[in-house]
Amino acid sequence: MKIQYYVAATLDGYIATEDDSLDWLFPLGSTQESSYPEFIAEVGALAMGAATYEWVLRHADEVIAETGSPWPYTQPAWVFTHRSLPEVAGADIRFVRGDVAEVIDAMRTAAQGKNIWVVGGGELAGQFYDAGLLDELIVQVGSATLGRGKPLFPRQVLSPVLRLVSVQQMGAGMVELRYQVSRTNTPDATHSQFYHGTRADLHPGDQITPDDASNAGGQDGTAPAVSLTPNLDAAIWAAELADGDGPGRVYTVEPTGPVEDAPPQPGHPAMAHRSAAPLRVTGEVTTWRLYHGTRAALQPGDLIQPGQTPNFGNRDRTTTYVYFTRTLDAAIWGAELAAGDGPGRIYIVEPTGPVEDDPNLTDQRFRGNPTKSYRSREPLRVTGEVTAWQGHPPEAVKAMQDGLAKLEQLGVEPLDD
Ligand SMILES: NC(=O)c1ccc[n+]([C@@H]2O[C@H](COP(=O)([O-])OP(=O)(O)OC[C@H]3O[C@@H](n4cnc5c(N)ncnc54)[C@H](OP(=O)(O)O)[C@@H]3O)[C@@H](O)[C@H]2O)c1
Repeated sequence: MKIQYYVAATLDGYIATEDDSLDWLFPLGSTQESSYPEFIAEVGALAMGAATYEWVLRHADEVIAETGSPWPYTQPAWVFTHRSLPEVAGADIRFVRGDVAEVIDAMRTAAQGKNIWVVGGGELAGQFYDAGLLDELIVQVGSATLGRGKPLFPRQVLSPVLRLVSVQQMGAGMVELRYQVSRTNTPDATHSQFYHGTRADLHPGDQITPDDASNAGGQDGTAPAVSLTPNLDAAIWAAELADGDGPGRVYTVEPTGPVEDAPPQPGHPAMAHRSAAPLRVTGEVTTWRLYHGTRAALQPGDLIQPGQTPNFGNRDRTTTYVYFTRTLDAAIWGAELAAGDGPGRIYIVEPTGPVEDDPNLTDQRFRGNPTKSYRSREPLRVTGEVTAWQGHPPEAVKAMQDGLAKLEQLGVEPLDD
């Protein structure tokens, strides 16, 4: 769950003219051809200021033409205003005023683990930033200037500066810049969301203490500690490798005391932080993105079919399954090891038929299916692409490729039927 200010701005840093016109924006491209569909699919609640809300009211005809409804969002919305503004029939809107920190708990609950979108304007996004509640700025910078207007982000951000995470060109008129908000250098403050993987059955408000977290920390002879991580993959691995027989579970947690780095564990994603103080459970992750790594260039709506030349083993056969995973790490391996020369790509996919554990990765080196890898005989539908991801170090990719080549020489074929 992240709190994101996703917005379009002119090259000189304005999001609207002084009289709230967005006419500069629309010639620069369509939202459907931008990252918007992928972005909005992950939004669980949104916040906007009165001027932004009034823009939607004033442009009801255009909004209806584009979305079929005068209110373009299905997510619950919080509109900040000191005035009594007209309502939109059927829209899930709460009118609020004052400190953004006072509504954030309600927004988080409503978002159910998904992201919170601060729609704008810039001053409201600044209020979230001031309260230490903004995680990311995603700005589509358009090739237009206005000279003056409503500012993108009327705040000084100097030290630490924002961390540039990705740059993506969108046609000839836009570039999307993604920035992470760095608060301090301590691990507990740079990430607003931590996860803990376990097999324990826990509920919001429960505490995970170092004593009952024997499967997740303090195993290296140091003082007992509970492990936590901002990396969902690492929490999935921890859940799958945890002692016991119940299903692996991933909880969102809050530390109640200082957090420090845990000793690195090479080999697979592992929870990288630990705390001697209990963790408070704030929720459970129950909906998952599914990923497919490849070198093929695909678009949302495309189907990934079985019947391809395989990436591993005998290339004379064709695959009878399509493969996908719940962990980004495994999808990155899929992209890096895929045959071909194009850039590796990670797509967000949904299966269209029955799925089963991938036997190549289940109950092999580790018990169970720690990479949460699956396969299906029916196609996968592409619903989006992950563009900001970091590959494994080149030496790790080489070692993996050498290992697979050795298996091939030994005649070990992947299980695909
Ligand atoms: N380019 C883009 O992607 C993009 C994105 C979003 C918005 N926009 C446009 O940019 C413009 C933004 O306008 P804006 O900068 O004036 O910002 P805005 O945040 O939409 O509206 C500001 C108003 O919201 C109310 N408000 C803000 N914080 C509040 C709080 N904590 N408590 C109570 N009320 C609060 C106040 O209005 P009252 O006191 O009068 O109630 C304030 O004057 C709009 O035209 C919008 O359509 C563009």
